[in-house]
Amino acid sequence: MSAAPTARHAAITSVGHFLPETRLTNGDLEEMVETSDEWIRTRTGIEERRILTDDDKATSYMATEAAQEALDKRGLAPDAVDVIVVATVTPDMLFPATACRVQDNLDASNAWGFDLSAACSGFIYALTTGAQFIESGRAETVLVIGADTMSSIVDYTDRTTCILFGDGAGAVLLEADAEAGLHDAVHHVDGEHGDLLRMEGGGSLHPPTHATVDAHMHYLDQAGRQVFKFAVTRMADVCEEVLERNDLSADDVDYLVPHQANQRIIDATAARMGLASDQVMVNIDRYGNTTAATIPLCLFDWEEELQRGDDLILTAFGGGFTWGAAHLTWAYD
Ligand code: UT7
Repeated sequence: MSAAPTARHAAITSVGHFLPETRLTNGDLEEMVETSDEWIRTRTGIEERRILTDDDKATSYMATEAAQEALDKRGLAPDAVDVIVVATVTPDMLFPATACRVQDNLDASNAWGFDLSAACSGFIYALTTGAQFIESGRAETVLVIGADTMSSIVDYTDRTTCILFGDGAGAVLLEADAEAGLHDAVHHVDGEHGDLLRMEGGGSLHPPTHATVDAHMHYLDQAGRQVFKFAVTRMADVCEEVLERNDLSADDVDYLVPHQANQRIIDATAARMGLASDQVMVNIDRYGNTTAATIPLCLFDWEEELQRGDDLILTAFGGGFTWGAAHLTWAYD
């Protein structure tokens, strides 16, 4: 009689990060647009963000630094990596993919990879995608990276968006584990509302011309109040969905790891789930909204406190609309 098959979960076994040194504070923004530190803090929770200022560096640089740190902490050489998935809406260029540049920078000679575009939900989408290579046995080591240079697409004359975003990267390593790791993930897309949060220019619909640049179409554009209403309900709904279908209650959750778009959205999601504030990972005050990097940067900051077996709910909402939630158990102390 053959033995029962062993579960093969995709577990996070290391986390790396990169944050540029340059800080853009609310005080700096007060000098750039008509805003105030008080407005930004109370409406968003943000105090400062990091900005990549080196002209010769871009998203692949931050992604590489984060990935290298994750590998070093785990004691793995780059040639151990089988797959690299980079979630980003600010690739170095339309092609080659940022993942190809990361592969070259790391000298990950055995890896293949690709970019994944799901805006602020990018990391959760990439985590689910990367996990499937582990779960199926097609890969032993996967790098999942969330990296965005939002300063490259933000209009610093638009006070409704420029106060929100920052630059950064986070990377996780995925490896097989019989018990801990990703257990479930729910994802949604609603393309009907794509025009509420987008960068319209630069693609095949509106290739870059003088006219598209004059019209500021190469900048991120957001109908903030409308996006807020969707984000606040959809994020809480999808967390409830992942809890229900896994027969989990708030008591089973150790930490909520929410995308960092607005402190008020984070608070509303935590309240709907019945979680205390010390169970919610927050870094929006220090880094703003780093798009695909918010969740892995939170994991990096909380890594010391996490213990094997802790139950985490990750959740995000972003342009597309895209949104989702994942349930995982932490794999290491
Ligand atoms: O990460 C991807 C998903 N994105 C999100 O989840 C973001 C969702 N949206 C938000 O977080 C919020 O809607 C914002 C932070 C973008 C805006 O906050 P709000 O409380 O929704 O403000 P609002 O857009 O309703 O604007 C209120 C007022 C307006 O003035 P009036 O019309 O009431 O006179 C704005 O013009 O605040 C004004 N305002 C500002 N005032 C000072 C807008 N931006 C600023 C600013 N400083 N930076």
